[in-house]
Amino acid sequence: MASIQSFKRRAVLRTAGFLSFLLFFSFVIWSYIPLKGVSTFGNKYRPLTVNAWPPYHNPTEPLRQPHDKFNAAFVTFVKGDSASLAGLRMTMRQIEFTVNQQRHYPYIIFSDEELSDEFKHLANVITPNDIDVAFYDQLAATEYYGYANSTDREQAQAARIRMNETLFGDSEDYRFSSRFMAGLMFRHPALKDLDYIWRFEAGTEYICPVSFDPFAFMKDAGKKVSFSIALYEYEETIPSLFANIMKFASENSDIVQSPDNSNSLWDFVIDKDTQGFNKCHFWNNFQIVDMNFFRGELYQRYFDFIDNSNGIFYERWGDAVIQSLGVVLFLEKNDIQFWENIGYRVANYFTHCPSSKMIYKQCSCRPSQNFDYDGYSCLRQFLKSGNEVYSITPS
Ligand SMILES: *[C@@H]1O[C@H](CO)[C@@H](O)[C@H](O)[C@H]1NC(C)=O
Ligand SMILES: *[C@@H]1O[C@H](CO)[C@@H](O)[C@H](O)[C@H]1NC(C)=O
Repeated sequence: MASIQSFKRRAVLRTAGFLSFLLFFSFVIWSYIPLKGVSTFGNKYRPLTVNAWPPYHNPTEPLRQPHDKFNAAFVTFVKGDSASLAGLRMTMRQIEFTVNQQRHYPYIIFSDEELSDEFKHLANVITPNDIDVAFYDQLAATEYYGYANSTDREQAQAARIRMNETLFGDSEDYRFSSRFMAGLMFRHPALKDLDYIWRFEAGTEYICPVSFDPFAFMKDAGKKVSFSIALYEYEETIPSLFANIMKFASENSDIVQSPDNSNSLWDFVIDKDTQGFNKCHFWNNFQIVDMNFFRGELYQRYFDFIDNSNGIFYERWGDAVIQSLGVVLFLEKNDIQFWENIGYRVANYFTHCPSSKMIYKQCSCRPSQNFDYDGYSCLRQFLKSGNEVYSITPS
């Protein structure tokens, strides 16, 4: 009996010894397998994509719309690198947290580049049900991103060389995205069923809770365009833009706003002394707009004119100033909403901080540190033109 028991004990010890050896050996192997998506131990240079991301597919159903009176979405254009992904996630998180948590408006995300499955997955999972984000990437392979048919490539290249000291002056890509966002985007099938879009930009910040539905506000108040920051454009990017606008206005006097109309927006952009362009425009990295205006016949006719004049490529006309002048041509003051009550910040500097204590007490900004009071802001030009919605001194 004793010998059987000691035999059993020896067998148990042998098995335990073997198992410990196996465990130790596996551990050694496991910690030395390099970068194969298997190991996380002892490997601080693990690459970002480790084939763990399933293929991402856009929702097959139309994007879910929370409001029964209109369709709306958050829309942006991004690059595919990891800094853009980080910026996109930060901004989407803030949008979800400050305004979209109870509403669940969907997102539409454009890119000229191919976005990885990881990129799409990590943007999508910020929304509560993982079904509210549709991506339209690789625009560079489509007619939405590139030169106009009428563009002379050599003239475009000469402009890039000539403007190498100007911000984005040497960039072809900047001009393609500007052309897309100034006009082609509004023709893209992804936006065809939308009444309103909220354009946002990866890396920008929404710094206060928003207690109302800004889309519904636009609809109820009949607003067509909205903005948060107004500023001056760089002169060297637009030498001939305003002359072209005047040409369009005189050729289309039957459809553009007359300067005699006191409700027109001409005094927002005309310098009183020189009667020329004061370069003031609505920044559009945050804007909520009525799609029916931008895809409508008037604006699109204007965009075709801009496109054929080729100032995007032969100079460096930006989408914000192009859009703003289109707004001045066709809309009136009361079509425009200035978002006094939405806290917003760009590049950790350009800040709009609401002046109401009810709002700023929950913001991460100081009402007195407001870009609105900066000499480079031209909000005062908008307020002066009869939009007395906002006192420019903090209360
Ligand atoms: C440019 O030319 C192509 C091919 O001829 C045509 O299909 C397209 O509609 C044109 N685009 C514009 C904006 O005129
Ligand atoms: C722009 O081009 C000029 C002439 O080729 C050159 O001297 C200058 O260094 C360039 N500037 C920049 C910022 O690249």
